[in-house]
Amino acid sequence: MKPRERMLAACRGEATDRPPVWLMRQAGRYLPEYRALREKHRFWQMMRETDLALEVSLQPVRRLGVDAAILFSDILIVLDAMGVEVKYVAGGPRIKPLVRDDNDLGRLDEVDAASEFDYVERIIRALCNELHPRTAVIGFAGAPFTLASYLVEKGPARESKHLRHLAKLRPEVYDEILGRITTVVTDLLALQIEAGADIVQLFDTWAGRLSVEEYSELALPWTKKVFEGLAGTGAPRILYTRNSHAHYLQAATARAQVLSIDDSLPLAEARARLGPGMALQGNLDPARLKEGPSRIRSAVKEMIDSAGSAGYIANLGRGLTPDTPVAGVEAFVAAVKEWRS
Ligand code: CP3
Repeated sequence: MKPRERMLAACRGEATDRPPVWLMRQAGRYLPEYRALREKHRFWQMMRETDLALEVSLQPVRRLGVDAAILFSDILIVLDAMGVEVKYVAGGPRIKPLVRDDNDLGRLDEVDAASEFDYVERIIRALCNELHPRTAVIGFAGAPFTLASYLVEKGPARESKHLRHLAKLRPEVYDEILGRITTVVTDLLALQIEAGADIVQLFDTWAGRLSVEEYSELALPWTKKVFEGLAGTGAPRILYTRNSHAHYLQAATARAQVLSIDDSLPLAEARARLGPGMALQGNLDPARLKEGPSRIRSAVKEMIDSAGSAGYIANLGRGLTPDTPVAGVEAFVAAVKEWRS
């Protein structure tokens, strides 16, 4: 099978000759060729200029021979488009102004996706031009709950404390914020698919802090709304939620074809819980890529054996971190390609 064909078949839940493979955060700082470019350009410039973003998206395809490239961008471009100042500083993104109540809502701009995200459209087109029909192109966005966490929290979005508080005290303000973000996210993903992206993934990075009840009330409805808005496009949809083993049964109802499983739950158990109808992606702990090649090989074999080779995409349980040795990433991809049942 060809890489793109393999990716799409796995998303449809079909058997493949071997699992397709790509890695979350594969385009980034663990690669010396990324760091070399990054020394010369600012992050925003790298996301906005077609040639730079194209180059960074292609780097992991060239070096690793993965089955899919992911658009080089960031989840926070949605907040930027809504008029929020997003700065990337060492230690993570900084966001201003904060939204805490309905007085602040007026500060969020209406977004015309076609003009606001024209740079994303150009990058996706360039990527498809370069990679199609052989290799798949993945588009992505942040899930509404995670983006709202960044919008409302002061400092790291991790606990989503103020956002959860706001949802309790002022549910109508919460709904207004999430509704506005949901529209922009849906438009952004529709634009990516229209430009040629084969598959889209939503990152709900901070959903793991929610209780099961909160997840179904505060996060799931909005994620579902995004996916429902894209259902007519035919492009497969992947949902990633982090630290979320308690949420998978509900997440499986969000109208994604693929659920990306984190490293908190063995894949065999995810399969058992979710049944054969849901394609899975994941879930090696990226920390294991610091081990030697033979240990990586056996971890990968165990992972694939427990997932089965139908409806399965080999990947990590969380994004690659900058301190991951390239040799470990290469060993991971090689092990997936060598896998035999
Ligand atoms: O290979 C890829 O996946 C590239 C595209 C991509 C980036 N960010 C580039 C990036 C993707 C899919 C993301 C998603 C993202 N961004 C998430 C969800 C994924 C996850 O890991 O849970 C989140 C929470 C963000 C927000 C964000 N952007 C953070 C927390 C940071 C700083 C720390 C970090 O994780 O890298 C960023 C900056 C960022 N986004 C960088 C890159 C390559 C580093 C920028 C630099 O070079 O300084």
